[in-house]
Amino acid sequence: MTDPASGQIDHVLDETRLFPPPAEFTAKAVISSEEQYQELYNRARDDRDGFWKEQALEHLHWFKPFDQVCQFEAPHAEWFVGGETNASYNCVDRNIDLGRGDKPAIIWEGEPGDTRTLTYNELRTEVCKCAEALLELGVEKGDVVSIYMPMTPELAIAMLACARIGAIHSVIFAGFSAESIADRNQDASAKLIITSDGLYRRGKVLPLKKTVDEALEKSPSIQTCLVLRRVGNDVPMTEGRDVWWHDVVDKQPGELPAVPLDSETTLFILYTSGSTGKPKGIRHTTAGYNLWANRTFQWVFDHRDDDVYWCTADCGWITGHSYIVYGPMSAGATCLMFEGAPNYPAENRFWELVEKYKVTIMYTAPTAIRAFIKWGDEHVDKHDLSSLRLLGSVGEGINPEAWMWYHEKIGGEKCPIVDTWWQTETGGIMMSPLPGITATKPGSCTKPLPGVIPVILDETGHSVDAEHGGMLCIDPPWPGMLRGVWGDEERFVETYWATVKGKYLTGDNARCDADGYYWIMGRIDDVINVSGHRLSTIEVESALVSHEAVAEAAVVGRPDDIKGQAIAAFVTIKDREPTEELRQELRMHVRKQIGALAQPDEIRFAAGVPKTRSGKIMRRLLRDIAAGRESAGDTSTLEDFSVLASLRAED
Ligand code: WT7
Repeated sequence: MTDPASGQIDHVLDETRLFPPPAEFTAKAVISSEEQYQELYNRARDDRDGFWKEQALEHLHWFKPFDQVCQFEAPHAEWFVGGETNASYNCVDRNIDLGRGDKPAIIWEGEPGDTRTLTYNELRTEVCKCAEALLELGVEKGDVVSIYMPMTPELAIAMLACARIGAIHSVIFAGFSAESIADRNQDASAKLIITSDGLYRRGKVLPLKKTVDEALEKSPSIQTCLVLRRVGNDVPMTEGRDVWWHDVVDKQPGELPAVPLDSETTLFILYTSGSTGKPKGIRHTTAGYNLWANRTFQWVFDHRDDDVYWCTADCGWITGHSYIVYGPMSAGATCLMFEGAPNYPAENRFWELVEKYKVTIMYTAPTAIRAFIKWGDEHVDKHDLSSLRLLGSVGEGINPEAWMWYHEKIGGEKCPIVDTWWQTETGGIMMSPLPGITATKPGSCTKPLPGVIPVILDETGHSVDAEHGGMLCIDPPWPGMLRGVWGDEERFVETYWATVKGKYLTGDNARCDADGYYWIMGRIDDVINVSGHRLSTIEVESALVSHEAVAEAAVVGRPDDIKGQAIAAFVTIKDREPTEELRQELRMHVRKQIGALAQPDEIRFAAGVPKTRSGKIMRRLLRDIAAGRESAGDTSTLEDFSVLASLRAED
């Protein structure tokens, strides 16, 4: 069952250490006793509608109250039926109504060190201006707006501006290629795209607008390109299509009231890799998603009014959507937002930020933690990190070594660590310690949050011994669950609901120990996790075979000390010599097709790709070879798998 391409699992299986929350933390925590958790959990399970009705009325603004809490006919859920709300109102105006108008909403620092603070009052003006500009540019309720931007306040402003008028945002991480942008624009029939002239990356300027220009050659639905000036590089503007942000946004009055929207209005789509084909547009809707982001934020991060909260993710991923924008802002948090890299200009940048802004809650990824460990403790030691009170982790399982370092070096042994398990599809955190009450075990995401009912099943959908492990499914519904795959109902049903009837299939393996703690054991499918980002091996294979020299390609993940998994490709070539130049050319080709994050770390030329009799690539065999678990000879020469393959049973 457990065959993730990771050597860390062995350590995790031996893990028995237990870290109870510090008493001082528990004393002030939002959820401060096991009984309180049990009560919430049982109520959400046994009186689902009553529980969520209360939560929704207390934590969201309603222009029109809902008639029904939940209507669920697997796999289709509707939450807060008949109600009208607006996520932009919840994240901005509601805070002003509650007297937080002068509280900083966003404290931003750019890569070169420039800074900007926006209070909730100021944020409202900026969001209104952007929304007014979108209307002027012809965006209507239900239109899709692509956003391809650096981590500037305008990125969050653009998301909230779309939400304000009922337009659907589709944020595309700024590391993706022109091809990937075009695919997403086409799939969503996006009408407008928001970008910037360029992006700072480790002191260099990346020409974002140029990439968008290339994408727009293949994006017939896009009528307008709105361009923020960020770095001041020269960019050609296409007459009648391209407009500057400072020309159309700045002149607006900044007063547009949020439009009341039906609860189930699509708030955004976000593309993510599945096990096959092109990335799919995961669709989330207004009320349920917003409430889920809000409640999970409050429970897991124990948020208080005086916290300075920092999530280091990019808004191009779901973590940025739920835990930079919709969760924290609807809870009135002060969010630090950072544009740059953790090691620029030096490896102490994150810790300098924590000290400078007196960050109290920090949420980052294991891949970053492992990089810091490698860079050395001296970068941490020169900073005062005593403001921190809580640490979070997301994106992949955190290996016990990284957990311990985070706990000791960053948390000074006084900060609970919340290892949060969730997915783009779940909208928000599903399993996590509650920092005031859960005794943590390094490597375990511990227990489900109220409203989450996990089940562990075998391939046929039957219960298995949870301690042994199996497929992790969730008993639906919960407010933040995906509502569909954009434009592809069949794929929605096929991917998530066809394997086990009536249950949501997560795609992860997990086991549950005798204490009821969950341990995520890797994927059941051909999805790999590189630096906390999801990639389909088949997507990378398709990119490789689109190169004229490639006859066949097989891609697998192999363990990597920093990234968790690295990308290893086995490639059969035609009409070319297996040279170092070709290897480099193929890496660049994948980069151009998908983006830098998909560039293979290793390319091995092979005489053939080992397949089962039914024609399936023998990935388990390749994973072993890529991980060095089986001698595969000189990696620079053509590998002949026929002997190895014949020794193995069908995969
Ligand atoms: C997949 C979801 C959740 C936002 C970022 C990634 C893996 C995520 C954990 C964790 C073990 C984790 C799973 C999951 N994953 N968090 N704490 N422990 N695995 O979102 O791109 O939708 O990827 O990331 O495999 O299915 P995503």
